[in-house]
Amino acid sequence: MTTNKEQSFIKRLMKSLTKANELGQEDKVMTDHDYDGIRELNNVLPPWWLYGFYITIIIGIFYYVQVFTNSEEYSQDKEFVNDVEQANKDIEAYKTAHPELFKTDVVLFTDAENLAAGKTIFEATCLACHMADGGGGIGPNLTDDHWILGGGIEKIYHTISEGGRPGKGMIPWKGSFKPMQIQQVASYVISLQGTTPANPKASEGDIVWTKQ
Ligand code: HEC
Repeated sequence: MTTNKEQSFIKRLMKSLTKANELGQEDKVMTDHDYDGIRELNNVLPPWWLYGFYITIIIGIFYYVQVFTNSEEYSQDKEFVNDVEQANKDIEAYKTAHPELFKTDVVLFTDAENLAAGKTIFEATCLACHMADGGGGIGPNLTDDHWILGGGIEKIYHTISEGGRPGKGMIPWKGSFKPMQIQQVASYVISLQGTTPANPKASEGDIVWTKQ
């Protein structure tokens, strides 16, 4: 419930913000413009609008001075340079926080822990085509010293990450595994070399590479 007093306060507020002419008193603001009987009222600009307009002018002046006069404290160029600097710092910080995502130099793991992690991936994902013991099936035998795509940790890492020749069935795995995990499974593949699988597939590939 609004009381009469409140109502009149709101009325007065509206009146002062709009300076609207009373209905029925159009004569007061009627101009003598007459276009085929269509006439014009000369209403004042509503103060709420006018003050908003003045404020934008003032902000505009500050903005112009700040942004376009290349002041010492602030300029668009500086803001850009600062942003790039900050972004580079953020990237570095992210890289240090997540080294496993950004490893670029591939290393061969020989420790039990990483090989076990590689084995887990291999036996969950790769066995369908290479057999759990690496003897081969749809994919080539991984226990011999013949390689289609190249031996050694870097080439094997590359094969797993980027996939084999188009249409052969070895897809790129970089979308499924992190670089760290690809290193682990590549190391595991190398650890299989020289083992004797149950049903070894005949050697394929002209590249001969044997681990040290
Ligand atoms: C859908 C079947 C399939 C799956 C699953 C698969 N591979 Fe392969 N893989 C192949 C085929 C086929 C080739 C041969 C590619 C070519 O000839 O270009 C191959 C090639 C390879 C090679 C290169 C062998 C060489 O002689 O150069 C490696 C290493 C390898 N795969 C590892 C893996 C690992 C590790 C995984 C699991 C993350 C995996 N593969 C999953 C089918 C598969």
